[in-house]
Amino acid sequence: MAQLTRVSGSVGLITLQNPPVNALSAAVRQGIVDTVKKAVSDPLVKCVVICGQNGVFCGGADIREFGAPMTGPPLVPMIHAIEATNKPVVAAIEGAALGGGLELALGCHYRIIHSKARVGLPEVTLGLLPAAGGSQRLPRLIGVPAALELITTGRHVSAAEALKLGIVDQVTDDNTVDTTVKFALSVVGRSLESRRISTFPCPPVSDLDAVFDVAMQRVRQSARGAIAPVTCVQAVRAAATLPYTQGMKREQELMATLFTSGQARALQYCFFAQRAVSRWSMPSGARWDTSKPRPISKAAVIGLGTMGRGIAVALAQAGLSVVAVETQEKQLMDAKQAVSGMLERGAKRRGVAPALGLVSYSHNIQAVAEADLVIEAVFEDMDLKKKVFQQLSAVCKPGTLLCTNTSSLDVDHLASQTPSPELVVGMHFFAPAHVMKLLEVVYGPRSSPQAVATAMQLGKKMGKVSVAVGNCRGFVGNRMLKPYMEQAFFLLEEGATPELVDQALEEFGFAMGVFRMSDLSGLDVGWRVRKADGLVDPDATSGRSARIRQGRRYSPLGDLLCEQGRFGQKAGRGWYQYDKPGSRVAKPDPWLHNFLEQYRARHGLGVRHIDHQEVLERCLYALINEGFRILEDGIAAGPEDIDAIYVFGYGWPRYRGGPMFYAGMVGLANVLERLEHFHQVHPDVPYLQPCSLLRRLVASGSPPIQKWREVIRKVHSQL
Ligand code: NAI
Repeated sequence: MAQLTRVSGSVGLITLQNPPVNALSAAVRQGIVDTVKKAVSDPLVKCVVICGQNGVFCGGADIREFGAPMTGPPLVPMIHAIEATNKPVVAAIEGAALGGGLELALGCHYRIIHSKARVGLPEVTLGLLPAAGGSQRLPRLIGVPAALELITTGRHVSAAEALKLGIVDQVTDDNTVDTTVKFALSVVGRSLESRRISTFPCPPVSDLDAVFDVAMQRVRQSARGAIAPVTCVQAVRAAATLPYTQGMKREQELMATLFTSGQARALQYCFFAQRAVSRWSMPSGARWDTSKPRPISKAAVIGLGTMGRGIAVALAQAGLSVVAVETQEKQLMDAKQAVSGMLERGAKRRGVAPALGLVSYSHNIQAVAEADLVIEAVFEDMDLKKKVFQQLSAVCKPGTLLCTNTSSLDVDHLASQTPSPELVVGMHFFAPAHVMKLLEVVYGPRSSPQAVATAMQLGKKMGKVSVAVGNCRGFVGNRMLKPYMEQAFFLLEEGATPELVDQALEEFGFAMGVFRMSDLSGLDVGWRVRKADGLVDPDATSGRSARIRQGRRYSPLGDLLCEQGRFGQKAGRGWYQYDKPGSRVAKPDPWLHNFLEQYRARHGLGVRHIDHQEVLERCLYALINEGFRILEDGIAAGPEDIDAIYVFGYGWPRYRGGPMFYAGMVGLANVLERLEHFHQVHPDVPYLQPCSLLRRLVASGSPPIQKWREVIRKVHSQL
């Protein structure tokens, strides 16, 4: 809604009222239309100020209304009507003016902003463009290059930058509404001709074609198949080359293509999924809203290798004091330098002072005695971790939460090393831990809801997307990665090359194909795990048995490469070759092609043509199938949890919504049919056998993803 009051004698003050961010719902739009009309026709009102209640101007469109039939007055004519009035209309921007909120402000004749407020057009992040005139007015106001950058990235801009760019007319540290009311009174009687942005020509640019070519190249490169950024460039081009009314027509046409695209739906799903995962639940019935987290102010990290360093930085940047412990003196010194460097660079980027004083270093585990929470990040070795947990139990004060960053070991087994297993959870960060958004919070059967709530809240404080998951081998993310990688190895045996597989996955939208990713993280990591699992058999070099382990098909290709020292980028060779160890540019390797040919010949494997479609179906459907098993096992509470994990931790293209959403888009019956086919061809690959939850969903008419939880609940209640 919107309320009109008369203040200072002759100012019509319109206040948007729709908590929490005054989104432009149908009722708010109707309220604006009505109050503007009333203010304009009231002879006592000389000027109008638009503001939002509760310290926020307007967060934009109400995305809960997306997908439903349009009701209430549309935005475009509403903003036009404001711009066309003969009384000055001034926006008083507190908090934020985002998306439709900024478009509304751009329809006003002046904009006053509080120094702590932000503005932006983030539509692109939801697969859309600013289609209430934003793509046409912003370039006319601030010029094509700046508008292109803001609209294609969706970046939020501070008040100071907004003033510099010319988006706003004045910044205030005082009460924004009072300042704006005074300002509005001061401009009464001035001509509004030069204040209507839609009448401005776009500021001239010397080589317009070149500017747009560069912008298009940039978005195509960074967007990897996302269509909204490309469409945003086209809309701004319309602003720069067409009269306003034609530009608006083009803006609407482009928006229509985006609205019906699956990408916008996927991105909006991700937006909701990111929020849904914070409302976690456990199979015991414990939930986010009934479990109270403990306050944490002092944390400790044990082991300052790749992960421990990043975790210490993330904790300090979140304002916690951190005790960082490492046994080796040299490693401790190196870590201190590295952590300080990361903190300094991060602080410089954010324009704040580095939190160097928050981190203290020690090689004595006794130093963690006063910590409220400890995160263990020593080598992935169960015996070592057990020892560390025993030491921590002896050293820490009662009630300290003990967390492990293990990527695959049994969290409950570690919990059993302590007298208080309810205080043990996994906090599985991703490398680099101070950068990557994902955190898997792993609860064991004995973890208390309070321990989970505390780890989830700490994750939030660190700016992570935290997802609560159950305890199993590889948890959610790595467990699903296993069948995906296995299929990629099998495809090599059947005739594909690493380049072909990676190209198919990268064209799908992954930041990196499976083999380039494996080279980056190091082939030896998986080799060590397979050795520990008793899968690596150096004597089995030929014959069918060489490719069977524990009764199922197995590809020893990764093991064979490791035996040759081909550990990936760090060794200068792996699935690809590199100029030198550590180099990042992967080049096809004739040695590897030759090796694959010999391997296939040795094992009597026929080579067949494999296309991109098969790569996608084999790799992705095997991964999705495991996702359904995870839901069936209750390891993840819902499909949104799995999708958030893949989008924020595994480079799954956001505009495809995550693997479970993608399965719904392709059609569950389709996924089932292809899995059945592949399993028939490869009966010795259990991962290709369709999971019963998938069958059940298809049998119940492939309901939309929002309804899957009901089917899952039924499955669980029957177990
Ligand atoms: P790393 O090998 O880089 O570092 C381990 C560090 O622990 C070393 O600096 C070592 O000196 C130290 N350490 C060993 N015993 C210790 C003890 N008793 N007390 C104190 N420090 C000790 O290993 P990384 O890669 O950092 O992995 C650590 C843990 O994080 C492992 O459990 C791993 O599975 C997990 N992880 C690793 C990821 C990665 O991408 N590297 C991703 C997610 C989890």
